Amino acid sequence: MNINYGKHYIDDIDREAAVKVLKSGWLTQGPNVNKFELDLKKYFKSKYCVVVSNGTAALHLAIKVLNLKVGTKVLTTPITFISTASSIIMNHLTPEFADIDKDTFTLDPNYVEYKLKKDKKIKVIVGVDYAGHPCDWESFNFLKKKYNLFLINDNCHAMGSEIKRNKGYAVKYADIVTQSFHPVKNFTTCEGGSILTNNKSFYKSFLQLRSHGINKSKKNLKKYGPWFYEVKEIGYNYRLTDLQSVIGTSQLKKLDKFVAKRERIADFYSRIFGKCEFIDVLKIRKNIKHSFHLYPLLINFKRKNISKNLFFNKMKEKGINLQVHYIPLHFQPFLRNNFSHIKNAKFPVAEDFYNREVSLPIYFSLKNEEQKYVAKNIINFFK
Ligand SMILES: Cc1ncc(COP(=O)(O)O)c(C=O)c1O
Repeated sequence: MNINYGKHYIDDIDREAAVKVLKSGWLTQGPNVNKFELDLKKYFKSKYCVVVSNGTAALHLAIKVLNLKVGTKVLTTPITFISTASSIIMNHLTPEFADIDKDTFTLDPNYVEYKLKKDKKIKVIVGVDYAGHPCDWESFNFLKKKYNLFLINDNCHAMGSEIKRNKGYAVKYADIVTQSFHPVKNFTTCEGGSILTNNKSFYKSFLQLRSHGINKSKKNLKKYGPWFYEVKEIGYNYRLTDLQSVIGTSQLKKLDKFVAKRERIADFYSRIFGKCEFIDVLKIRKNIKHSFHLYPLLINFKRKNISKNLFFNKMKEKGINLQVHYIPLHFQPFLRNNFSHIKNAKFPVAEDFYNREVSLPIYFSLKNEEQKYVAKNIINFFK
């Protein structure tokens, strides 16, 4: 057995679509880029969508278009991947953290408000819909109005999640939504990402920044000639290719099926591990559909007097490659060494979560026998 915590699923339909593009002559920006953007807009109910090369690029641009003064603070969760914070720093802004909710593992709105009251430099909240559980976006929306903030949803884990049966919840609440289509995510374009928004001016900036800051206006093409373009700000090469886009369109059609399978696996784990008194299984709030990018299990290693390291190594010997999502960002040396307010920061809920969290294997092609094998080995280990 060799079972990883996550894995992509590519079928013949995806492969055939990719081969068709390879034969078409379009390798970079062809018709499939627009098509994929249309599909994403429809699925996630946004007015605008710009696909980009990865989720980190999406976050970089999402924060950039807010045009904030150097030193402005952007508040996010410590329980996330490094790019949620590095994209803040890439924009010459300052990351700030708040603790997480003990049940949903997403930013705790009460802690967020406590921070907002103390620190007027915070102008943005980047919420991460961790593992696929949406943040409390209604509370963040209330705080947005009260404190005049921007909201960004780092939605990389939660494609297919819903609030009140709405798959378009992310763009309903946040000014900008970012997604990642990395192979371990709920669907993939190999590498890839997207930015969703209902704001036309942000949309125009995203289009320009994705491709070197190049602006080709119809008016100027007519006036000066078909070669003409202008660069008024420096942009990036953050484009997604036609090949990746066609895979995205094909994969997106399977997203509901992928999420349904993830739900069944999660249900199996919750039933099995829900019976162990030293383990906490995840809780899902009312009106939420979880899309289970991850299945975080909280094991009380202290109570069992067993190190997490030993547990991981023993599972590895059995061919079960678990993961931890995430080492809290305020533990990372770069952040501690460069930001004095982070150096001694403590977020007890996030830290306790880190001590106990283990991400179990969850992905579309995970077989029933493999799920049982994982569960059996974990239970036997603690016996
Ligand atoms: C929460 C979160 N944000 C951002 C990213 C960055 O996405 P990418 O790997 O596509 O750059 C990831 C990817 O792992 C993620 O999990």
